[in-house]
Amino acid sequence: KYYQGCFNSIVLMLYVDLLEFSEPGVFNYSTLLLSETRDALYVGAREAIFELSKRNVTVRNNKVQWKVADTPMSMCTLKGKSKEDCLNYIRVLQVLNEEHLYVCGTHAFQPQCDYLSIKDFVLEGRAEDGRGKCAFDPSHSVTTVMVDGELYSGTVYNFLGSEPIISRYSPQQALLRTEYSTSWLNEPSFVFADVIREGGGPAGEDDKIYYFFTEVSVEYEFFGKLFIPRVARVCKGDLGGQRTLQKKWTSFLKAKLVCSMPELNFVFNVVHDVFVLEAEDWRNTLIYAVFTSQWGNVGLSAVCVYNMALVDEVFSKGKYMQKATVEQSHTKWVRYNGITPSPRPGACIDNAMRQENINSSLHLPDKTLQFVKDHPLLEDPVLPVGGRPHLITKDVNYTQIAVDRVTALDGRAYDVIFTGTDTGVLHKSVLDEGEVHVVEEIQLIKSGGAIKNLLLSSETRSLYAGSDSGVVQSPTAFCGKYLSCDQCVLARDPYCAWDPSSSACVNILDRPETQNGLIQSLKGDADSCPAVAALSPRDYGRVLVRPGSSAELPCAPPSNLALVSWRLNGSALTEASRFHFIGEGGLLIYSVGPEDQGRYECWSLEWAPAAGKNFSRQVAAYTLVLAAPPAPRGPRKDLGRAAPELGRSGPLGDPFPEGNANTPGPSPLTPARLSPPLPPPPPHSKAPGGPEARDPSAQYLQRGNAAALLCLFLLFFFLFLAALAYNCYMRYLPAPCLRLRAALVGGHKSPLRPEYRACEGGLMEPPAAEKLKLAPRPEGHQLRALRDTGYETEPDCGNGKIPSHGFGGGGGGSDSPSSEKPFDVDSDSQHIEFADADEPSC
Ligand SMILES: *[C@@H]1O[C@H](CO)[C@@H](O)[C@H](O)[C@H]1NC(C)=O
Ligand SMILES: *[C@@H]1O[C@H](CO)[C@@H](O)[C@H](O)[C@H]1NC(C)=O
Ligand SMILES: *[C@@H]1O[C@H](CO)[C@@H](O)[C@H](O)[C@H]1NC(C)=O
Ligand SMILES: *[C@@H]1O[C@H](CO)[C@@H](O)[C@H](O)[C@H]1NC(C)=O
Repeated sequence: KYYQGCFNSIVLMLYVDLLEFSEPGVFNYSTLLLSETRDALYVGAREAIFELSKRNVTVRNNKVQWKVADTPMSMCTLKGKSKEDCLNYIRVLQVLNEEHLYVCGTHAFQPQCDYLSIKDFVLEGRAEDGRGKCAFDPSHSVTTVMVDGELYSGTVYNFLGSEPIISRYSPQQALLRTEYSTSWLNEPSFVFADVIREGGGPAGEDDKIYYFFTEVSVEYEFFGKLFIPRVARVCKGDLGGQRTLQKKWTSFLKAKLVCSMPELNFVFNVVHDVFVLEAEDWRNTLIYAVFTSQWGNVGLSAVCVYNMALVDEVFSKGKYMQKATVEQSHTKWVRYNGITPSPRPGACIDNAMRQENINSSLHLPDKTLQFVKDHPLLEDPVLPVGGRPHLITKDVNYTQIAVDRVTALDGRAYDVIFTGTDTGVLHKSVLDEGEVHVVEEIQLIKSGGAIKNLLLSSETRSLYAGSDSGVVQSPTAFCGKYLSCDQCVLARDPYCAWDPSSSACVNILDRPETQNGLIQSLKGDADSCPAVAALSPRDYGRVLVRPGSSAELPCAPPSNLALVSWRLNGSALTEASRFHFIGEGGLLIYSVGPEDQGRYECWSLEWAPAAGKNFSRQVAAYTLVLAAPPAPRGPRKDLGRAAPELGRSGPLGDPFPEGNANTPGPSPLTPARLSPPLPPPPPHSKAPGGPEARDPSAQYLQRGNAAALLCLFLLFFFLFLAALAYNCYMRYLPAPCLRLRAALVGGHKSPLRPEYRACEGGLMEPPAAEKLKLAPRPEGHQLRALRDTGYETEPDCGNGKIPSHGFGGGGGGSDSPSSEKPFDVDSDSQHIEFADADEPSC
């Protein structure tokens, strides 16, 4: 049911005006917080907190500085930390109540928290110990969520960063935290935490806080550190145990997140960010997560989606794992098959427990507590929706994700996935019944730094990205850049629709009342667009070309998915026909002759998979006419390209201005390279359009300059003879020549050596002029050899895509064996399997 696209770097790169904020001397804008009630985006940077307008982040409403005093600073540097690391990096920014934000910073490796008054925007100086809430080292991970005035965080608890912690801080109670044990947390890197409100249900369930992180596996034996992506959860009502697990979580459980391509045995095992797409019923809430692989050289990123109901099922019904000692010293994690104590260890207090007089975690029996202390890890993994990633992208490292659900004009909801990369690029992809397509790619961070934080506001319909260099605000859609109905519809962007009355591509969210008459097709069916009158030959751009020179006819396809084809006098042109080269930018015709005259049409063809048809339209049209041969003068060949006299473009919105039909486009072939090697033109004829420009053949024919022709013929004849003699001498030519050679040189009659035979073919290929150049054996031989090697060893990457069998439309393969146990390291071949997995990426 589900399959996913595999994208190389996307061709279409948008250059748009974005709103940016940064202040000189301030860096690391990595903590962002959107206010729900005010027009405010709070930004935590290095030694500063800003309040920006969320409608326009260039507007700074407030700023407060939070520097480290001299004494802690010198103590920090005395402990061997760099001056830069000892600065105060603001890492926690949460709304405490209507008057205050709660703010924490690394503060010279002595994390501190303070209250920030929203009204006056000043720190109140009630500094609190930030241990367990904020990291010591700015390079360590911190994730926090404020739930009903209590701060839940995941970070490290000590200076060295060796003691990881998931904790809850509330002004009324003591810090509740994880046990310090590698089976609870083992070198975790926290990426996200959020609350899922389940409270108030008929079962009297508690709200739960979910943490997402990558940690080092304990359950698999591996030759190095094997990372495992995890989801862990704790209950909001947890108060710790009475005797066992005092001031520790009694509800801490964790499970493995699976994001893999089972057919290829390829595992994405590092989670970077999570976005929770909330639904009315928490069971339908979706968790979007971005992954890469620990083996970074593979260069693949993936988005996997998890269903909250399934996550909950793993936690409430999953089997536990336990540590078993084998062969005395060696421990191994295996499934626990014994009887689990009741109530279920790690479960939140619900009505059933209350009936047994267990009203809080303080009343839980020691047996249950001891069990959960020893068995925090569940064996059952959390599997992704569809059993596989929804999106796989090659050659990027995704760092952040945000998801918007948009109801399109067809009444259906589409999930739009925004992913940020480590090079400051934003990808926007649309998910439609398991099919995904990338709509656009934007360079958000101009400096190319990583996107460290990405927030989405449906209210302002903007994305906010934090990086080391600043904060950027971008709209969620750029409908205005689609200039025609076809472009607007074929982009298949659920935000955009064509408004025939204003002839503009508009954002449907801008006008929720007047959506009647708007044209949108998420299936990419542009037939509903108003018919554009077909071009009549009168409207064609007229291109005047001198015989023998080259012409370039530009054609900009409407989208990056379109295939471009050309027609001459109504019949299709192929790459193979004469000197035509169809590049990205248009058609290049070399050495235009009388037979090239005619009507050229550029058509784009786009396959609209959802609509099940091809959609084609005319993008540009030209009439190519040979210029009358001008009065002859000195013999020379014009190497320049022709200038069209009237390069008027058709009415279909060809972006090229008039008279510009030979704008040098991004064609991979340039005329100079293909032109025959001839002496440089005399200086007086440099201007290609000047009256001196001549076509030589025309001149010769007109003048009947037989002498010149004869000279040329003789020259070529001599060259031919020289080449023949040389090749014969080098034994490139067959038997009769060899006999002659033997008679002349007296060499032995050894059979041709294989490499000569191999290069023989290569020497016959190039046209005469090139042949002369290639004739000297060493270069020719080398060239050929290089070519051959290239062909044989380069794997077929299919234009950078991984082989399609890895993705096929299938998805049916229910819970395939490898999704159950993608890290089954019991077999010694495990690391070899992972090495194999590198192959498909070329
Ligand atoms: C802070 O920003 C600076 C400048 O861009 C960068 O070199 C440094 O690595 C950043 N530090 C952290 C902890 O992100
Ligand atoms: C992705 O990150 C890895 C590890 O940090 C790095 O080696 C690789 O070059 C990055 N790839 C891209 C495309 O940025
Ligand atoms: C195309 O049509 C024009 C006039 O209709 C004719 O002169 C030209 O030779 C034709 N070209 C080809 C390649 O058929
Ligand atoms: C659509 O166009 C592609 C590419 O030219 C072609 O292979 C395919 O058969 C066409 N499909 C239909 C239904 O016309």
